[in-house]
Amino acid sequence: MSLDLNSPFARDIAHHIHPQTNLRLHETEGPLLIDRGEGCSVIDSEGNRLIEGMAGMWCASLGFSEQRLVDAATRQLQRLPYMQTFAHRSTDPIIELATQLTAMAPGPRPGETMAKALFACSGSEANDTAMKLVWYYHHSIGKPEKRKLIARRRGYHGTTIAAASLTGLPNMHQDFNLPLAGVLHVTCPHYYREGRPGESEAQFTDRLVAELEALILNEGPDTIGAFIAEPVMGTGGVVVPPEDYFPRVQEVLRKYDILVIADEVICGFGRTGEVWGSDTFGIRPDMLTCAKALSAAYFPISATLVSQAVYEAMRAESDKLGNFSHGFTYGGHPVGAAVALETLAIYRERDIVGHVRRVGPRLQAGLRALADHPLVGEARGIGLMGALELVQDKVTRASFPPARKVPGYLAGRIQKRGVILRGRDDSLLFSPPLTISEAEIDTVLDAVAAGLDETLDWVRGH
Ligand SMILES: Cc1ncc(COP(=O)(O)O)c(C=O)c1O
Repeated sequence: MSLDLNSPFARDIAHHIHPQTNLRLHETEGPLLIDRGEGCSVIDSEGNRLIEGMAGMWCASLGFSEQRLVDAATRQLQRLPYMQTFAHRSTDPIIELATQLTAMAPGPRPGETMAKALFACSGSEANDTAMKLVWYYHHSIGKPEKRKLIARRRGYHGTTIAAASLTGLPNMHQDFNLPLAGVLHVTCPHYYREGRPGESEAQFTDRLVAELEALILNEGPDTIGAFIAEPVMGTGGVVVPPEDYFPRVQEVLRKYDILVIADEVICGFGRTGEVWGSDTFGIRPDMLTCAKALSAAYFPISATLVSQAVYEAMRAESDKLGNFSHGFTYGGHPVGAAVALETLAIYRERDIVGHVRRVGPRLQAGLRALADHPLVGEARGIGLMGALELVQDKVTRASFPPARKVPGYLAGRIQKRGVILRGRDDSLLFSPPLTISEAEIDTVLDAVAAGLDETLDWVRGH
Protein backbone atom coordinates (compact mmCIF):
# COMPACT_ATOMS: atom_id res chain seq x y z
CA MET A 1 0.00 0.00 0.00
CA SER A 2 1.53 3.33 -1.00
CA LEU A 3 1.42 6.18 1.48
CA ASP A 4 -0.49 9.34 0.51
CA LEU A 5 2.22 11.96 1.09
CA ASN A 6 -0.40 14.57 1.75
CA SER A 7 -2.12 12.60 4.50
CA PRO A 8 -1.80 13.87 8.08
CA PHE A 9 0.01 10.61 8.86
CA ALA A 10 2.69 11.26 6.23
CA ARG A 11 3.00 14.96 7.04
CA ASP A 12 3.45 14.19 10.71
CA ILE A 13 6.41 11.99 9.80
CA ALA A 14 7.70 14.61 7.38
CA HIS A 15 7.48 17.71 9.58
CA HIS A 16 6.80 17.00 13.21
CA ILE A 17 9.35 16.15 15.91
CA HIS A 18 7.83 14.11 18.76
CA PRO A 19 9.20 14.56 22.27
CA GLN A 20 10.14 11.45 24.27
CA THR A 21 10.04 9.36 21.08
CA ASN A 22 12.60 7.35 19.12
CA LEU A 23 12.79 9.67 16.11
CA ARG A 24 14.01 7.02 13.69
CA LEU A 25 11.32 4.58 14.77
CA HIS A 26 8.71 7.28 14.28
CA GLU A 27 9.61 7.46 10.59
CA THR A 28 8.41 3.88 10.15
CA GLU A 29 5.74 3.70 12.88
CA GLY A 30 4.15 7.09 12.30
CA PRO A 31 1.77 8.78 14.73
CA LEU A 32 -1.26 7.51 16.60
CA LEU A 33 -3.70 10.17 15.44
CA ILE A 34 -6.23 11.13 18.07
CA ASP A 35 -9.27 12.85 16.71
CA ARG A 36 -11.54 13.70 19.60
CA GLY A 37 -12.38 13.04 23.22
CA GLU A 38 -15.43 11.78 25.08
CA GLY A 39 -15.42 11.38 28.85
CA CYS A 40 -12.42 9.31 29.89
CA SER A 41 -11.91 8.07 26.32
CA VAL A 42 -10.37 9.38 23.13
CA ILE A 43 -11.28 8.34 19.63
CA ASP A 44 -8.54 7.83 17.05
CA SER A 45 -8.64 8.78 13.39
CA GLU A 46 -9.97 5.33 12.48
CA GLY A 47 -12.85 5.60 14.91
CA ASN A 48 -11.38 3.33 17.61
CA ARG A 49 -12.41 4.29 21.13
CA LEU A 50 -9.62 4.10 23.71
CA ILE A 51 -9.88 4.63 27.47
CA GLU A 52 -7.09 7.08 28.30
CA GLY A 53 -5.59 5.25 31.26
CA MET A 54 -2.88 7.91 31.61
CA ALA A 55 -5.22 10.94 31.41
CA GLY A 56 -3.01 12.03 28.52
CA MET A 57 0.18 12.81 30.44
CA TRP A 58 -1.16 12.40 34.02
CA CYS A 59 -3.13 15.59 33.51
CA ALA A 60 -6.58 15.42 31.86
CA SER A 61 -8.16 14.99 35.28
CA LEU A 62 -11.72 15.71 34.14
CA GLY A 63 -11.57 13.68 30.95
CA PHE A 64 -11.73 14.94 27.41
CA SER A 65 -15.13 16.57 26.93
CA GLU A 66 -15.85 18.84 29.88
CA GLN A 67 -18.09 21.53 28.39
CA ARG A 68 -17.84 23.81 31.43
CA LEU A 69 -14.11 24.23 30.82
CA VAL A 70 -14.72 24.99 27.16
CA ASP A 71 -17.29 27.61 28.17
CA ALA A 72 -15.01 29.15 30.79
CA ALA A 73 -12.21 29.50 28.24
CA THR A 74 -14.58 30.90 25.63
CA ARG A 75 -16.02 33.50 28.00
CA GLN A 76 -12.56 34.69 28.98
CA LEU A 77 -11.30 34.69 25.38
CA GLN A 78 -14.21 36.92 24.45
CA ARG A 79 -13.73 39.29 27.37
CA LEU A 80 -9.94 39.61 27.55
CA PRO A 81 -7.88 37.00 25.67
CA TYR A 82 -4.52 38.08 27.02
CA MET A 83 -2.86 40.31 29.55
CA GLN A 84 0.59 40.06 31.08
CA THR A 85 1.26 40.27 34.77
CA PHE A 86 4.60 42.11 34.54
CA ALA A 87 5.00 45.53 36.10
CA HIS A 88 1.92 45.55 38.37
CA ARG A 89 -0.64 44.43 35.73
CA SER A 90 -3.36 42.05 36.87
CA THR A 91 -6.73 40.57 35.97
CA ASP A 92 -9.65 39.29 38.01
CA PRO A 93 -9.19 35.59 37.15
CA ILE A 94 -5.52 35.48 38.12
CA ILE A 95 -6.18 37.35 41.38
CA GLU A 96 -8.93 34.89 42.26
CA LEU A 97 -6.76 31.91 41.33
CA ALA A 98 -3.82 33.16 43.42
CA THR A 99 -6.23 33.67 46.34
CA GLN A 100 -7.71 30.18 46.08
CA LEU A 101 -4.43 28.33 45.50
CA THR A 102 -2.55 29.96 48.35
CA ALA A 103 -5.45 29.26 50.71
CA MET A 104 -5.54 25.57 49.73
CA ALA A 105 -1.83 24.73 49.70
CA PRO A 106 -0.01 23.53 52.82
CA GLY A 107 2.80 25.73 54.10
CA PRO A 108 5.86 24.90 56.18
CA ARG A 109 4.17 24.63 59.57
CA PRO A 110 0.98 22.76 60.57
CA GLY A 111 -2.08 24.88 59.93
CA GLU A 112 -0.11 27.29 57.75
CA THR A 113 -0.93 27.80 54.08
CA MET A 114 1.16 29.25 51.28
CA ALA A 115 1.51 33.03 51.05
CA LYS A 116 1.89 33.89 47.35
CA ALA A 117 1.58 32.37 43.90
CA LEU A 118 3.78 32.96 40.86
CA PHE A 119 2.47 31.62 37.56
CA ALA A 120 4.04 29.99 34.51
CA CYS A 121 2.90 27.66 31.75
CA SER A 122 4.35 24.23 32.52
CA GLY A 123 5.57 22.06 35.33
CA SER A 124 9.15 22.46 34.11
CA GLU A 125 8.90 26.23 34.28
CA ALA A 126 7.37 26.06 37.76
CA ASN A 127 10.32 23.95 38.92
CA ASP A 128 12.89 26.14 37.14
CA THR A 129 11.29 29.06 38.92
CA ALA A 130 11.50 27.26 42.26
CA MET A 131 15.21 26.59 41.68
CA LYS A 132 15.85 30.26 40.90
CA LEU A 133 13.87 31.26 43.97
CA VAL A 134 16.04 28.99 46.14
CA TRP A 135 19.04 30.97 44.96
CA TYR A 136 17.31 34.35 45.23
CA TYR A 137 16.08 33.53 48.73
CA HIS A 138 19.54 32.56 49.94
CA HIS A 139 21.09 35.68 48.44
CA SER A 140 18.47 37.70 50.24
CA ILE A 141 19.11 36.12 53.64
CA GLY A 142 22.88 36.53 53.25
CA LYS A 143 23.73 32.89 52.50
CA PRO A 144 24.42 32.91 48.74
CA GLU A 145 26.68 29.88 49.00
CA LYS A 146 23.65 27.73 49.95
CA ARG A 147 23.01 26.94 46.28
CA LYS A 148 23.11 23.18 45.78
CA LEU A 149 19.87 21.27 45.40
CA ILE A 150 19.21 17.70 46.44
CA ALA A 151 16.82 15.64 44.32
CA ARG A 152 16.25 11.89 44.04
CA ARG A 153 17.25 9.30 41.50
CA ARG A 154 14.22 8.41 39.35
CA GLY A 155 12.51 11.68 40.27
CA TYR A 156 11.01 13.60 37.35
CA HIS A 157 10.75 17.37 37.41
CA GLY A 158 10.61 18.28 33.71
CA THR A 159 12.90 18.78 30.75
CA THR A 160 14.05 22.39 30.73
CA ILE A 161 17.71 22.75 31.71
CA ALA A 162 17.14 23.22 35.43
CA ALA A 163 14.16 20.85 35.71
CA ALA A 164 15.96 18.14 33.72
CA SER A 165 18.95 18.55 36.02
CA LEU A 166 16.71 17.98 39.04
CA THR A 167 15.25 14.96 37.27
CA GLY A 168 17.02 11.78 38.30
CA LEU A 169 16.54 9.74 35.12
CA PRO A 170 19.80 9.20 33.20
CA ASN A 171 18.21 9.31 29.75
CA MET A 172 17.03 12.90 30.44
CA HIS A 173 20.70 13.90 30.93
CA GLN A 174 22.57 11.81 28.39
CA ASP A 175 24.21 13.88 25.64
CA PHE A 176 22.36 17.01 26.75
CA ASN A 177 25.36 17.93 28.97
CA LEU A 178 23.20 17.60 32.06
CA PRO A 179 22.75 17.71 34.97
CA LEU A 180 23.97 21.19 35.85
CA ALA A 181 26.67 21.29 38.51
CA GLY A 182 25.29 21.61 42.01
CA VAL A 183 22.40 19.18 41.68
CA LEU A 184 22.86 16.09 43.85
CA HIS A 185 20.75 12.95 43.66
CA VAL A 186 20.01 10.57 46.52
CA THR A 187 18.50 7.08 46.53
CA CYS A 188 14.95 6.59 45.31
CA PRO A 189 12.68 5.44 48.17
CA HIS A 190 11.58 2.29 46.37
CA TYR A 191 11.78 -0.52 48.88
CA TYR A 192 11.16 -3.30 46.34
CA ARG A 193 14.11 -2.26 44.17
CA GLU A 194 16.41 -0.44 46.57
CA GLY A 195 15.87 -2.41 49.78
CA ARG A 196 18.74 -4.76 50.62
CA PRO A 197 18.29 -8.48 51.32
CA GLY A 198 17.07 -8.92 54.88
CA GLU A 199 16.46 -5.18 55.36
CA SER A 200 13.02 -4.26 56.75
CA GLU A 201 11.16 -1.27 55.30
CA ALA A 202 11.86 0.65 58.52
CA GLN A 203 15.58 -0.12 58.25
CA PHE A 204 15.46 0.92 54.59
CA THR A 205 14.01 4.30 55.61
CA ASP A 206 16.67 4.65 58.32
CA ARG A 207 19.36 4.03 55.71
CA LEU A 208 17.94 6.61 53.28
CA VAL A 209 17.65 9.21 56.03
CA ALA A 210 21.25 8.50 57.12
CA GLU A 211 22.40 8.72 53.49
CA LEU A 212 20.77 12.13 53.15
CA GLU A 213 22.32 13.45 56.32
CA ALA A 214 25.74 12.08 55.39
CA LEU A 215 25.52 13.77 52.00
CA ILE A 216 24.59 17.10 53.60
CA LEU A 217 27.45 16.86 56.09
CA ASN A 218 29.88 15.77 53.43
CA GLU A 219 28.98 18.61 51.06
CA GLY A 220 28.67 21.08 53.92
CA PRO A 221 25.22 22.17 55.15
CA ASP A 222 26.11 25.75 54.25
CA THR A 223 26.22 24.76 50.57
CA ILE A 224 22.79 23.06 50.36
CA GLY A 225 19.84 25.29 49.51
CA ALA A 226 16.89 22.98 48.95
CA PHE A 227 15.51 19.48 48.56
CA ILE A 228 12.89 18.76 45.89
CA ALA A 229 10.61 15.74 45.73
CA GLU A 230 7.42 14.48 44.17
CA PRO A 231 5.25 13.03 46.99
CA VAL A 232 4.81 9.97 44.77
CA MET A 233 7.32 9.71 41.94
CA GLY A 234 5.26 9.49 38.77
CA THR A 235 7.33 9.07 35.62
CA GLY A 236 10.04 7.26 37.61
CA GLY A 237 7.55 4.41 38.15
CA VAL A 238 4.81 5.49 40.60
CA VAL A 239 7.03 5.01 43.61
CA VAL A 240 5.05 5.26 46.85
CA PRO A 241 7.52 6.06 49.65
CA PRO A 242 7.59 4.27 53.02
CA GLU A 243 5.10 5.82 55.43
CA ASP A 244 7.48 7.85 57.60
CA TYR A 245 10.00 8.64 54.85
CA PHE A 246 9.00 12.28 54.31
CA PRO A 247 8.57 13.28 57.97
CA ARG A 248 12.00 11.76 58.71
CA VAL A 249 13.65 13.37 55.69
CA GLN A 250 12.15 16.71 56.61
CA GLU A 251 13.49 16.52 60.13
CA VAL A 252 16.99 16.33 58.67
CA LEU A 253 16.36 19.13 56.19
CA ARG A 254 14.99 21.48 58.86
CA LYS A 255 18.02 20.77 61.05
CA TYR A 256 20.27 22.24 58.35
CA ASP A 257 17.96 25.06 57.15
CA ILE A 258 17.35 23.41 53.80
CA LEU A 259 14.19 24.46 51.96
CA VAL A 260 11.65 21.81 51.02
CA ILE A 261 10.06 21.96 47.56
CA ALA A 262 7.07 19.69 46.94
CA ASP A 263 6.66 18.98 43.22
CA GLU A 264 2.89 18.43 43.11
CA VAL A 265 2.72 18.57 39.32
CA ILE A 266 1.21 15.05 39.20
CA CYS A 267 0.00 14.53 42.76
CA GLY A 268 -1.78 17.86 43.20
CA PHE A 269 -5.59 18.13 43.11
CA GLY A 270 -6.61 14.68 44.23
CA ARG A 271 -4.47 12.08 42.47
CA THR A 272 -3.38 10.41 45.75
CA GLY A 273 -6.83 10.65 47.42
CA GLU A 274 -6.09 13.94 49.23
CA VAL A 275 -5.99 17.35 47.60
CA TRP A 276 -2.18 17.32 47.79
CA GLY A 277 0.31 14.49 47.87
CA SER A 278 1.92 16.57 50.63
CA ASP A 279 -1.21 15.96 52.75
CA THR A 280 -1.02 12.23 52.09
CA PHE A 281 2.65 11.95 53.06
CA GLY A 282 3.07 14.59 55.76
CA ILE A 283 5.15 17.04 53.72
CA ARG A 284 5.27 20.67 54.94
CA PRO A 285 6.87 22.48 52.03
CA ASP A 286 8.42 25.95 51.78
CA MET A 287 7.53 25.96 48.08
CA LEU A 288 5.02 23.92 46.14
CA THR A 289 4.81 23.58 42.38
CA CYS A 290 1.68 22.50 40.53
CA ALA A 291 0.42 22.27 36.94
CA LYS A 292 -1.39 19.55 34.95
CA ALA A 293 -4.67 18.97 36.89
CA LEU A 294 -4.64 22.65 37.90
CA SER A 295 -6.47 23.31 34.63
CA ALA A 296 -7.44 19.69 33.96
CA ALA A 297 -4.89 20.14 31.12
CA TYR A 298 -7.31 22.24 29.07
CA PHE A 299 -4.87 25.15 29.15
CA PRO A 300 -1.13 25.21 29.90
CA ILE A 301 -0.76 26.82 33.31
CA SER A 302 1.44 26.15 36.34
CA ALA A 303 2.20 27.80 39.64
CA THR A 304 5.04 28.06 42.12
CA LEU A 305 3.59 28.74 45.56
CA VAL A 306 5.84 30.13 48.28
CA SER A 307 5.63 30.49 52.04
CA GLN A 308 5.53 33.82 53.83
CA ALA A 309 9.21 33.51 54.80
CA VAL A 310 10.28 32.83 51.21
CA TYR A 311 8.13 35.70 49.99
CA GLU A 312 9.58 38.12 52.53
CA ALA A 313 13.10 37.29 51.37
CA MET A 314 12.04 37.78 47.73
CA ARG A 315 10.47 41.12 48.61
CA ALA A 316 13.65 42.32 50.31
CA GLU A 317 15.84 41.18 47.42
CA SER A 318 13.64 42.77 44.75
CA ASP A 319 13.67 45.99 46.74
CA LYS A 320 17.45 45.86 47.04
CA LEU A 321 17.90 45.20 43.31
CA GLY A 322 15.02 47.45 42.23
CA ASN A 323 13.06 44.68 40.53
CA PHE A 324 12.07 41.00 40.75
CA SER A 325 13.59 40.19 37.36
CA HIS A 326 11.83 36.95 36.51
CA GLY A 327 8.67 36.04 34.63
CA PHE A 328 7.10 34.64 31.47
CA THR A 329 5.07 36.39 28.78
CA TYR A 330 2.21 33.94 29.30
CA GLY A 331 2.60 33.50 33.05
CA GLY A 332 -0.70 34.33 34.73
CA HIS A 333 -2.60 34.10 31.43
CA PRO A 334 -6.21 35.12 32.07
CA VAL A 335 -7.65 32.30 29.97
CA GLY A 336 -5.57 29.72 31.85
CA ALA A 337 -6.67 31.27 35.12
CA ALA A 338 -10.34 31.16 34.10
CA VAL A 339 -10.04 27.51 33.10
CA ALA A 340 -8.21 26.67 36.34
CA LEU A 341 -10.87 28.42 38.43
CA GLU A 342 -13.62 26.46 36.71
CA THR A 343 -11.61 23.27 37.20
CA LEU A 344 -11.28 23.96 40.93
CA ALA A 345 -15.01 24.71 41.12
CA ILE A 346 -15.79 21.36 39.46
CA TYR A 347 -13.44 19.55 41.88
CA ARG A 348 -15.36 21.05 44.79
CA GLU A 349 -18.89 20.64 43.40
CA ARG A 350 -18.39 17.04 42.27
CA ASP A 351 -16.22 16.10 45.24
CA ILE A 352 -13.56 14.75 42.91
CA VAL A 353 -11.18 13.97 45.79
CA GLY A 354 -13.97 11.94 47.44
CA HIS A 355 -14.51 10.14 44.13
CA VAL A 356 -10.81 9.23 44.00
CA ARG A 357 -11.10 7.85 47.53
CA ARG A 358 -14.16 5.83 46.55
CA VAL A 359 -12.93 4.32 43.26
CA GLY A 360 -9.16 4.31 43.90
CA PRO A 361 -9.35 1.13 46.02
CA ARG A 362 -10.89 -0.69 43.03
CA LEU A 363 -7.88 0.14 40.89
CA GLN A 364 -5.44 -0.66 43.69
CA ALA A 365 -7.12 -3.99 44.51
CA GLY A 366 -7.18 -4.91 40.81
CA LEU A 367 -3.48 -4.14 40.46
CA ARG A 368 -2.63 -6.12 43.61
CA ALA A 369 -4.62 -9.07 42.23
CA LEU A 370 -2.40 -9.00 39.12
CA ALA A 371 0.71 -9.33 41.29
CA ASP A 372 0.33 -13.12 41.04
CA HIS A 373 0.93 -13.03 37.30
CA PRO A 374 4.32 -14.56 36.35
CA LEU A 375 5.42 -11.29 34.71
CA VAL A 376 4.56 -9.01 37.63
CA GLY A 377 7.21 -8.44 40.28
CA GLU A 378 5.39 -5.73 42.17
CA ALA A 379 1.99 -4.03 42.00
CA ARG A 380 1.97 -0.64 43.68
CA GLY A 381 0.14 2.65 43.81
CA ILE A 382 -2.16 4.92 45.75
CA GLY A 383 -5.37 6.73 44.89
CA LEU A 384 -5.68 6.81 41.12
CA MET A 385 -2.06 6.21 40.24
CA GLY A 386 -0.37 2.86 40.00
CA ALA A 387 2.25 0.67 38.40
CA LEU A 388 2.98 -2.94 37.62
CA GLU A 389 6.68 -3.71 37.64
CA LEU A 390 7.56 -6.42 35.15
CA VAL A 391 10.25 -8.98 35.91
CA GLN A 392 11.61 -11.99 34.08
CA ASP A 393 12.15 -13.79 37.38
CA LYS A 394 9.90 -13.18 40.37
CA VAL A 395 12.38 -14.71 42.82
CA THR A 396 15.53 -12.86 41.78
CA ARG A 397 13.49 -9.81 40.66
CA ALA A 398 15.62 -9.64 37.52
CA SER A 399 14.30 -7.14 35.01
CA PHE A 400 14.03 -7.78 31.31
CA PRO A 401 16.87 -6.36 29.21
CA PRO A 402 15.73 -2.84 28.20
CA ALA A 403 16.30 -3.65 24.51
CA ARG A 404 13.44 -6.15 24.62
CA LYS A 405 11.04 -3.29 25.43
CA VAL A 406 8.68 -5.62 27.28
CA PRO A 407 6.61 -2.86 28.99
CA GLY A 408 6.22 -1.18 25.59
CA TYR A 409 5.07 -4.45 24.02
CA LEU A 410 2.56 -4.93 26.86
CA ALA A 411 1.23 -1.38 26.45
CA GLY A 412 0.80 -2.11 22.73
CA ARG A 413 -1.23 -5.27 23.43
CA ILE A 414 -3.41 -3.39 25.90
CA GLN A 415 -3.97 -0.60 23.39
CA LYS A 416 -5.26 -3.18 20.89
CA ARG A 417 -7.89 -3.89 23.55
CA GLY A 418 -8.96 -0.28 23.76
CA VAL A 419 -6.93 1.09 26.66
CA ILE A 420 -4.01 3.53 26.57
CA LEU A 421 -1.37 2.95 29.26
CA ARG A 422 2.31 3.78 29.36
CA GLY A 423 5.21 1.37 29.51
CA ARG A 424 8.33 3.05 30.89
CA ASP A 425 11.55 1.44 32.04
CA ASP A 426 10.40 -1.76 33.79
CA SER A 427 6.87 -0.68 34.58
CA LEU A 428 3.41 -0.28 33.20
CA LEU A 429 1.98 2.98 34.53
CA PHE A 430 -1.61 3.94 35.39
CA SER A 431 -2.99 7.44 35.91
CA PRO A 432 -6.54 7.66 34.56
CA PRO A 433 -8.75 10.76 34.66
CA LEU A 434 -9.91 11.42 38.22
CA THR A 435 -13.49 11.01 36.95
CA ILE A 436 -13.04 7.38 35.88
CA SER A 437 -15.88 5.05 36.88
CA GLU A 438 -15.55 1.66 38.53
CA ALA A 439 -16.84 0.03 35.33
CA GLU A 440 -14.11 1.75 33.32
CA ILE A 441 -11.50 0.68 35.87
CA ASP A 442 -12.69 -2.91 35.40
CA THR A 443 -12.34 -2.54 31.62
CA VAL A 444 -8.80 -1.25 32.07
CA LEU A 445 -7.91 -4.12 34.41
CA ASP A 446 -9.42 -6.75 32.09
CA ALA A 447 -7.39 -5.39 29.18
CA VAL A 448 -4.25 -5.46 31.33
CA ALA A 449 -4.85 -9.06 32.43
CA ALA A 450 -5.32 -10.20 28.83
CA GLY A 451 -2.34 -8.12 27.68
CA LEU A 452 -0.15 -9.70 30.35
CA ASP A 453 -1.07 -13.21 29.15
CA GLU A 454 -0.30 -12.27 25.54
CA THR A 455 2.97 -10.71 26.59
CA LEU A 456 3.91 -13.83 28.55
CA ASP A 457 3.34 -15.94 25.40
CA TRP A 458 5.46 -13.49 23.41
CA VAL A 459 8.24 -13.45 26.00
CA ARG A 460 8.30 -17.26 26.15
CA GLY A 461 8.21 -17.55 22.37
CA HIS A 462 11.32 -15.43 22.02
C1 LIG B 1 6.26 15.58 38.78
C2 LIG B 1 6.45 16.37 37.54
N1 LIG B 1 7.07 17.56 37.60
C3 LIG B 1 7.25 18.31 36.51
C4 LIG B 1 6.84 17.89 35.28
C5 LIG B 1 7.10 18.73 34.07
O1 LIG B 1 5.92 19.29 33.62
P1 LIG B 1 5.82 19.85 32.12
O2 LIG B 1 5.89 18.65 31.21
O3 LIG B 1 4.50 20.55 32.12
O4 LIG B 1 6.95 20.78 31.92
C6 LIG B 1 6.18 16.67 35.15
C7 LIG B 1 5.68 16.19 33.84
O5 LIG B 1 5.29 15.08 33.67
C8 LIG B 1 6.00 15.88 36.31
O6 LIG B 1 5.42 14.68 36.23
